[in-house]
Amino acid sequence: MLVVLFLIIALIAFVCILLSLYFIFGLYATILGAPYAETKKKDLQTILTLAKARSEDKILDLGAGDGRLVMAFARAGFKATGWEINPRLVRRANKLIRNNSLKDKALVKRVNFWQQSVADYDVIYVFGIQRMMPRLEKKFMQELMPGAKVIVNYFIFPNWSFDRQDGNYYLYIKS
Ligand SMILES: C[S@@+](CC[C@H](N)C(=O)[O-])C[C@H]1O[C@@H](n2cnc3c(N)ncnc32)[C@H](O)[C@@H]1O
Repeated sequence: MLVVLFLIIALIAFVCILLSLYFIFGLYATILGAPYAETKKKDLQTILTLAKARSEDKILDLGAGDGRLVMAFARAGFKATGWEINPRLVRRANKLIRNNSLKDKALVKRVNFWQQSVADYDVIYVFGIQRMMPRLEKKFMQELMPGAKVIVNYFIFPNWSFDRQDGNYYLYIKS
């Protein structure tokens, strides 16, 4: 009887720890950038058309969530990288990438995007929140190569003027 009680308490404690980690990782990402929300897969074509991405372009999803967009870019023939801070989402993303045999074209790395340089990328996709856009604008101005393209979903940069718009999506080209 005592053993059963112990097992029940251990199980409850384990579930509580998992739930706490789930919320802590989500909160951490929200404080450092944006909470998790998904771009609709049906909008991928809008994003690619707006960017006029070429097959040799290196594409980055900055804050990649569970990697579904990185996989969609890879399926469309591009080499795609995702940066994601939430380890739970990074694990899920790379599992999905493996299960869908996309390892050669897609990768999600566990990094804080504020601590990485974006200089290597030709096309960057951002689905963030308004609060992070001023700091991100400064970072992009310092690091991006001329001609690099940034597509943002809904939340625009405060000073940088966009070149084109399609619905909620805005294209910026670094001069
Ligand atoms: C709104 S979601 C976008 C997910 C995906 N890009 C999409 O469009 O479907 C933003 C993602 O950015 C991640 N994130 C927030 N701050 C971050 C940071 N500093 N470094 C890396 N990822 C971050 C969050 O964990 C979340 O998964």
